[in-house]
Amino acid sequence: MENLTPKEIVTYLNQYVIGQNDAKKTIAVALRNRYRRMQLPQEIQADVIPKNILMIGSTGVGKTEIARRLAKMMELPFIKIEASKYTEVGFVGRDVESMIRDLAAISLKLVRESENSKNSEKIEAYIENKIIEKLLPPLPSGVSQQKKDDYDASFTRMQKKFEAGSLDHLMITIEMPAPTFDMEDSGLPPQMANVQESISKVLGGINKKGKEKEVTVQEAKKILAMEASQELLDDDKLKEIAIKKVEQGGIIFLDEVDKIAVPSNSQGRQDPSKEGVQRDLLPIVEGSSVHTKLGIINTDHILFIAAGAFHLSKPSDLIPELQGRFPLRVELNTLDEEVLYRILTEPKNSLIKQYKALLKVEDVDLLFGEDALKLIAHYSFLANEKTEDIGARRLHTVMEKILEEISFEADEHQGEEIEVDTQLIKDKLGKVVEDEDTTRYIL
Ligand SMILES: Nc1ncnc2c1ncn2[C@@H]1O[C@H](COP(=O)(O)OP(=O)(O)OP(=O)(O)O)[C@@H](O)[C@H]1O
Ligand SMILES: [Mg+2]
Repeated sequence: MENLTPKEIVTYLNQYVIGQNDAKKTIAVALRNRYRRMQLPQEIQADVIPKNILMIGSTGVGKTEIARRLAKMMELPFIKIEASKYTEVGFVGRDVESMIRDLAAISLKLVRESENSKNSEKIEAYIENKIIEKLLPPLPSGVSQQKKDDYDASFTRMQKKFEAGSLDHLMITIEMPAPTFDMEDSGLPPQMANVQESISKVLGGINKKGKEKEVTVQEAKKILAMEASQELLDDDKLKEIAIKKVEQGGIIFLDEVDKIAVPSNSQGRQDPSKEGVQRDLLPIVEGSSVHTKLGIINTDHILFIAAGAFHLSKPSDLIPELQGRFPLRVELNTLDEEVLYRILTEPKNSLIKQYKALLKVEDVDLLFGEDALKLIAHYSFLANEKTEDIGARRLHTVMEKILEEISFEADEHQGEEIEVDTQLIKDKLGKVVEDEDTTRYIL
């Protein structure tokens, strides 16, 4: 996955995101450059810093979607955050460094999952042994060889049953994992977060042993999975890998950056904390060290992708230092009727496929003719034109409106085929779209 060529990355994205080729290409190249950099000799490697990207495009045209799909594919630590959520250091709220801490936590989870699946056999064996030991009467020490052999034989028999799942309903008593006080980053300022962590440690120390509880074998499997992972995998090692993954492959998707820009024409009503957040971002984007639960993380090579609609403000309204740290600019196109049609039908999990699948659950086959699909795209486009352009999200509101009755009454139509034809769509939407005011309310 790591050494996909830019072309391959774009091909992958094409399955989910229609159009927006510039944005796809830019991001694909940025990711490839990561890989290229890793092949360089050590001393050049340190100097090649990622070129951060600023995506500009109005709402609902696929900015977040591109980032989301990429993250899924690459299996890299990825976090999407809203820039407007942060406040300047010293004010109440989340400081920008917490995004690195969150990213670190995500990375650790990724690493643990991948190590778990690499060691799945060991982990399963651990769980199996633990449960069977609970089910069999314990073997007293110093018994005869005969007894031991008997014990082993019944152990093997139990193993067979366990694997066949015929023990799943039995009840056993197991020790619940000690309650962890490992709280999520709660938005406290760093100093307080440290205190919180120390308290967690102390409490965790007292509470080493968890309570015993009677559960079914099936539940026990799940409960023991975490314990097994902790017993068998070396936590420090995991943390080390997780830090490396963040430092070398982490991606931060900074959504809604336009919301922290201060428009130059907003006379007098300057919001100091917005600029403060921008200033706090500078060192992180450029590269600095952040304390996290895993250890110190260096942000030099984390890739930042910022995105925003920039309706009320312009990229030049960001403080110059921050502008300069996002050298790559890509604009995303607004969606015309043809693209809307393609978004409706082409993506791997397109809206049409989703609705078909949903109604299939009720044993109703939903059918759409070609002209019906065209009409849906047409009405969506019209609604975007006449009122606010909300991009592909308009398709959702339009589809909901068209299918509201079918959805509601689906249970009465079990085993039937329902065709959504142009007549139905016109009945539902024709009047609405003609009148701008009703469009505003209904779609
Ligand atoms: N070009 C596209 N191809 C396929 N689906 C799209 C495209 N653009 C938008 N969508 C769909 O529309 C929805 C909204 O898109 P997305 O979340 O990417 O919007 P956005 O550009 O991030 O908008 P905002 O500025 O409001 O955050 C998603 O469900 C996505 O699947
Ligand atoms: Mg978005």
